[in-house]
Amino acid sequence: MSSEKPTTVAAVDAEALEREALAAVARAATADKLDEARVRYLGRRSELKLALREVRDRESGAALNALRDRLEHAVEDKQAELAAAAGAETEPFDPTLPGAEIPRGALHLITQLRRRIEDVFVGMGYEVYDGREVETVWHNFDALNQPEAHPTRDPQDTFYVDDQTLLRTHTSPSQIHAMMAKEPPIYLVSLGRCYRRDPIDPTHTPIFHQVEGLAVDRNITLADLRGTIEQFASAIFGGRRQVRMRTGFFPFTEPSVEFDLTCYMCDGAGCPVCKRSGWIEMGGAGEVDPNVFVNVGYDPEAWQGFAFGLGLDRIAASRHGVPDLRMFWENDIRVLEQF
Ligand code: PHE
Repeated sequence: MSSEKPTTVAAVDAEALEREALAAVARAATADKLDEARVRYLGRRSELKLALREVRDRESGAALNALRDRLEHAVEDKQAELAAAAGAETEPFDPTLPGAEIPRGALHLITQLRRRIEDVFVGMGYEVYDGREVETVWHNFDALNQPEAHPTRDPQDTFYVDDQTLLRTHTSPSQIHAMMAKEPPIYLVSLGRCYRRDPIDPTHTPIFHQVEGLAVDRNITLADLRGTIEQFASAIFGGRRQVRMRTGFFPFTEPSVEFDLTCYMCDGAGCPVCKRSGWIEMGGAGEVDPNVFVNVGYDPEAWQGFAFGLGLDRIAASRHGVPDLRMFWENDIRVLEQF
């Protein structure tokens, strides 16, 4: 058998054949040309196939089979390459088509409003002070001069964690934390979530948001409060808003007021938004009660201050025509994406 080996190998110069076949495959610019090359080098009557048929020894057979495998792979690769190029040709890239839209999220309306309000007060030299959502009964009520018999202390109205701990019912305890932590002058706003056991309806949710403001300095009067709120409201609602104060009562302010703003829709003329009154109720405020100063260790003869609190959710709802506060919580994209 070994005497036949040189004959078989001599019958085909495997190396030269491979070089020639690979070059032909690489040159083929169309599917037809590639097929020509395939028939010529791998077809039934090709030099390689004939040589394989003649092979008598295992070594040459293995070498020629390996060569055939390499050539077949080269043809397949070239076929794939030509097919891809053809595909790209039938669907040319059109740079004028609109691109695939990448959906972009946005901040919740309440968060947007909260940040705008913070910006406005920072612009007036105020600090943004973070309060706590879980409070002691003392910070939430006693320190704020709110006596044990006050209705908001009723467990019916408040989420108690235990006897001495509750979810804050307003942002006013932030005043206490700030005044105990630092000396006057103080100019701060504190914004965040508050909790009350209000049954859920279009104008009440048990979680809601407030903006608290506190200024403590020498000779602070209600006129400073009015000017501050007018400035803030004009920045948030646009135009020139005016403030109206009505007498009110809060245990931690004396005197206390409830304040309204001229309607941002009709500028005071009367419209459905302000129920034809020209005014929109905003919140509560007043001069800091001297008892509160005593509770935090300030001398009430030396310092005066004002404080105010208002609800963010209702501002957001009326400003954007959201008819039901529950919509802020339902996470319906169709609602949220409008803001
Ligand atoms: N904390 C009061 C409330 O929740 C609002 C308020 C804040 C009133 C500061 C006066 C001063 O209704």
